[in-house]
Amino acid sequence: MCGIVGYIGNRNAANILIEGLEKLEYRGYDSAGIAVINENGVEVKKHKGRLSVLKDSLGEKVLEGTIGIGHTRWATHGEPSDVNAHPHLNSNNAIAVVHNGIIENYIPLKEELIEKGYEFKSDTDTEVIPHLIDCYYNGNIIETVQKVVSMLEGSYALGIIDSNNPDMVIAVRKDSPLVVGIGEGENFIASDIPAILNHTRKVYLLENNDMAVLRADSVEIMKTDGTKVNREIFNVNWNVESAEKGGYDHFMIKEIHEQPKAIKDTISSRINRMGQIDIKDITLEKEYIRNINKIYMVSCGTAYHAGLVGKVLIEKYAKIPVIAEVASEFRYGNPFIDENTLMIVVSQSGETADTLAALRLAKERKAKVLAVTNVVGSSISRESDYPLYTWAGPEIAVASTKAYTAQLAALALIALDMAVKRGAVEDVSEIVNELKLLPEKVEEILKHLDEMKKMAEEVYKTEDIFFIGRGLDYYVAMEGSLKLKEISYIHSEAMAAGELKHGTLALIDKGTPVIALATQDKLYDKMLSNIKEVKARGAYVIGVAKESNREIEKIVDRVIYIPEVMDELSPVLAVVPLQILAYYVALNRGCDIDKPRNLAKSVTVE
Ligand code: M6R
Repeated sequence: MCGIVGYIGNRNAANILIEGLEKLEYRGYDSAGIAVINENGVEVKKHKGRLSVLKDSLGEKVLEGTIGIGHTRWATHGEPSDVNAHPHLNSNNAIAVVHNGIIENYIPLKEELIEKGYEFKSDTDTEVIPHLIDCYYNGNIIETVQKVVSMLEGSYALGIIDSNNPDMVIAVRKDSPLVVGIGEGENFIASDIPAILNHTRKVYLLENNDMAVLRADSVEIMKTDGTKVNREIFNVNWNVESAEKGGYDHFMIKEIHEQPKAIKDTISSRINRMGQIDIKDITLEKEYIRNINKIYMVSCGTAYHAGLVGKVLIEKYAKIPVIAEVASEFRYGNPFIDENTLMIVVSQSGETADTLAALRLAKERKAKVLAVTNVVGSSISRESDYPLYTWAGPEIAVASTKAYTAQLAALALIALDMAVKRGAVEDVSEIVNELKLLPEKVEEILKHLDEMKKMAEEVYKTEDIFFIGRGLDYYVAMEGSLKLKEISYIHSEAMAAGELKHGTLALIDKGTPVIALATQDKLYDKMLSNIKEVKARGAYVIGVAKESNREIEKIVDRVIYIPEVMDELSPVLAVVPLQILAYYVALNRGCDIDKPRNLAKSVTVE
């Protein structure tokens, strides 16, 4: 998830672009760049590192030009570096492109262009776009861009300038946000409203497959097939701070809403048209996968909870034994590691000290390491043998939400890939189809925020909460409990429901809130019995179940239904109401939701 800004008008474009990028730095900051059109053609400055590096390189010298595009990058394809930074150019430096999103079919497009003699400078997916525009240029840049985007698969917000057409900026949007800001004698594009809020409050919110052609004194919007469309002007009445949060009050709730996209981006380019798992970004050789004798799944906090779900999926589908451990324990334990051991580390930041230490220990002992991380170029991804990225975009709230569901999606892909390569299952099409449906099912849950809000009002004054579940639901309970405690400071525990009677049941008293997860069809009846156990002691029970399992209504105080889903993937859905509940409980308690006390986003010390 990167940031885009673009300008056309009468003022110095570079200054406006840099100022806009400053407002977007929270979205990604591994490199930044701008391109302007002036008498030298397209002039580009781009650098690895924070925006300040780009600013320093520009120094006092003003980059002339009143039309330009800028970008701040959160790497997906290709390490953070000067060449991978945007804008990207065609061979004769006439066309510059900035891009947010992922071009899923960039490899075949790149191969085709290379065959035609095009040379690539970067490892990015984006670079195919200026070369394609160059390749298919028919003398009309608008038509050419329309043709090129019809060839692209994936998600994209694009800003394009062409020195042969120095009176326009072209913007295209598909599955990645982009707005057009309307000024007087000047117009803007931005991936996020804060970037242009100092200049205008009037914007067009582009819709999927919209293309905008901006000139200094006009904005024309059409579909990418050329059909003209009218979009209403949206008047922004938020301040800059809330605009950074996309109009949400906190990054956490914004990130909760970004989950459908995070999941989709993580899976879509790794499932091919035939519905087969095709993880192109890492090469897990069949031979190697077949020889793995065990897997250590090592991580911390929320990532550990994702790892527990990953363990179940790998054991079920790939039939490899998996030992899941928290990294702080693993690194001082006595693990049995040999060259047929695979370690999977899961880490949003890719910088967690304990996880990194565990990875190094495994490598010392000649095991291979597969890292599921969200940050390209992070220490963990660099030191691993197989870095597999979750494409959740920058996660800013300390409480992890979209990174977790993206991790679950990535681990499901790994489990299925291994299963197929080991010949451990005949057919994975059912679960692959279900995986693809997860984004829209999460979207469905997000329509019911008000229910969770009401429940939060009922429980927020409590001092103790228990989360119970069986099987995968137990691991989701652990995540729900962590979410609640870290942002609301309420004491909370997750219990395997079958364990209650071995001790914890003694803590259940009249009115004690218990969140009971009952989404596993196989364990549903057992779970209802456990719910009855706590109800009999006076607990106030909020149940979480699938829509079709309505029996639960008769015994709980409140129930949250999630869409139908196969048991193996239900954690991706079941966790969402728990995240929302935690958010509203913390909100009611007046907590500092995005920056909870005593916690840091990235734990780089032991
Ligand atoms: O960056 P990582 O995924 O390695 O971080 C691991 C934990 O520190 C992290 O998940 C932590 O538990 C979160 N604050 C939970 O919301």
